[in-house]
Amino acid sequence: MARRKKIYEGKAKILYEGPEPGTIVQYFKDDATAFNAEKKDVIDGKGVLNNRLSEFFMNGLGQIGVPTHFIKRLNMREQLVRQVEIVPLEVIVRNYAAGTMSKRLGIEEGTQLPRPIVEYCYKDDGLGDPLVTEEHIAAFGWASQQDMEDILSLALRVNDFLSGVMMAVGIKLVDFKIEIGRVYDGDFQRLIIADEISPDSCRLWDMETGRKLDKDVFRRDLGSLTDAYTEVARRLGVMPQNATPMTKPTLIN
Ligand code: TYD
Repeated sequence: MARRKKIYEGKAKILYEGPEPGTIVQYFKDDATAFNAEKKDVIDGKGVLNNRLSEFFMNGLGQIGVPTHFIKRLNMREQLVRQVEIVPLEVIVRNYAAGTMSKRLGIEEGTQLPRPIVEYCYKDDGLGDPLVTEEHIAAFGWASQQDMEDILSLALRVNDFLSGVMMAVGIKLVDFKIEIGRVYDGDFQRLIIADEISPDSCRLWDMETGRKLDKDVFRRDLGSLTDAYTEVARRLGVMPQNATPMTKPTLIN
């Protein structure tokens, strides 16, 4: 069999040409990076967990009518997704202050915000994904006014869904980042959720203890990242209830 063509390699995933036109295979690596790739490591099993967790969230979103790029999981590390044109924005939704918002505005981490706050960063690693306003987005043509309305509505629907799913298993959704893709269906174009939704791109805190169950464990050297992600997967029923943290996760199905 001919080797499939690599389209792009990012920090945590590799994209390959899919089997049908308009499809892509997303391969989840074990690589972890933080602080714009200044801190790097290989975390055994992270890719397997994120592949499965992203499948779980994308499927759930599909079930409540939020369109995503997800088609199906192929194996432990790969999933088939729709090819999209990525809107060059990191869309962040925050429910509690943390990370850069706490630093920028001097708000103590964990403070509940008066309402969910949506922020946009321009997707450019070289520039460190700078925060931008809708003025920049409109002026530079990164997204239209209609796109921005659709993106806001998608972001808030994802927030409601993810917050609820997490609350049901005793986890507080502090913030998260999504990416948006543009797809063309004949003459129509629409925006869908793309990339991944996983503990790499969320802040998740245990409601009782405040224990961090997300990539801050890696960013701030708080212990085993695999243990934290395994705990999220176990609570969501993505892994067997009796699973103990392990470096090579066993998955249901
Ligand atoms: P933020 O606090 O702005 O940045 P940092 O993670 O560097 O402290 O991030 C808010 C949330 O969005 C957090 O859960 C991490 C996520 N995020 C990404 O996953 N990738 C990104 O490029 C950005 C800007 C944020």
